[in-house]
Amino acid sequence: MTAPVKVTKVGHVGIKVNDLSRHGEFYTDTWGLGLTEEDRGTLYLRAEEPTHHVLALYEDTPDANVVDHLGLQVRDRDDLERAAEELARRGLEVLTPPGPSSEPGQTRAMRFRDVAGQVVELYCEPEQVRDEYGPRPVKPTKLSHVVLHVPNIDEAVAMYRDVLGFREIDWNGHWMAFLNCNADHHSLALVAAEEPKLHHVAFEVHDWMDLAKGIYNLGEHHVPRVWGPGRHGAGNNVFSYFWDLDKNVIEYTCEVDQVDDSYQPKVWEPASGQPDWWCAYPPPPQMNNR
Ligand SMILES: [Fe+2]
Repeated sequence: MTAPVKVTKVGHVGIKVNDLSRHGEFYTDTWGLGLTEEDRGTLYLRAEEPTHHVLALYEDTPDANVVDHLGLQVRDRDDLERAAEELARRGLEVLTPPGPSSEPGQTRAMRFRDVAGQVVELYCEPEQVRDEYGPRPVKPTKLSHVVLHVPNIDEAVAMYRDVLGFREIDWNGHWMAFLNCNADHHSLALVAAEEPKLHHVAFEVHDWMDLAKGIYNLGEHHVPRVWGPGRHGAGNNVFSYFWDLDKNVIEYTCEVDQVDDSYQPKVWEPASGQPDWWCAYPPPPQMNNR
């Protein structure tokens, strides 16, 4: 079965934060992103790649789910039309039909509520930023992946696969599913949980030397490190996880496996030690703070 829509990139995530100004400073001065634009009380932050934004910060009182929306790039305008049709046919709520984007940095977009109740934005024709990124201790190169908790993991995987064209790739047991949409091993992952909410957001850095510099720099700024550094089994990426000012879990990562259609999906067993090949520590409880 070929999905009617093809997501080509997990381009950005919007999150609600308690203090917009302090979070803006944290994500630019400390984490290494750059401010592209401030619009109607929202901060749009870019990484080194020239895409307009990888993170949008909304000042709002965060509830159990801090995710305002997940931004997924699709091939073209026809994909937006097909998505609206197919999602409505499946009884999912289309919040904004395909049309000119109200969010800066992209030409056309639509929004819907996924099977877990999460707001998802599909967009095409992202704006490229031409400004110099500038010197900074660590330069996140792009959004690597977003991981979300979902109440019904099989139903959620089926929707992202059958409607939006993600490939179901590895699993950790039957509690975490990795989804692929381009050469990166995974760009989205889903974790079985009681309610929809953010698990973590990962930003790619150039290499493990930049990751080490990032760990040092965050340590100097007393940013809590919650797991790592280590290397995962699924995706084979080197990682280190931290808390932002609201204790949202964020990650620097690099060396994510590059895959093509010949990749054979795997199920990683919990006892294999694969959450961290280096130390074999399981994820600490701080990974599930929220
Ligand atoms: Fe967006």
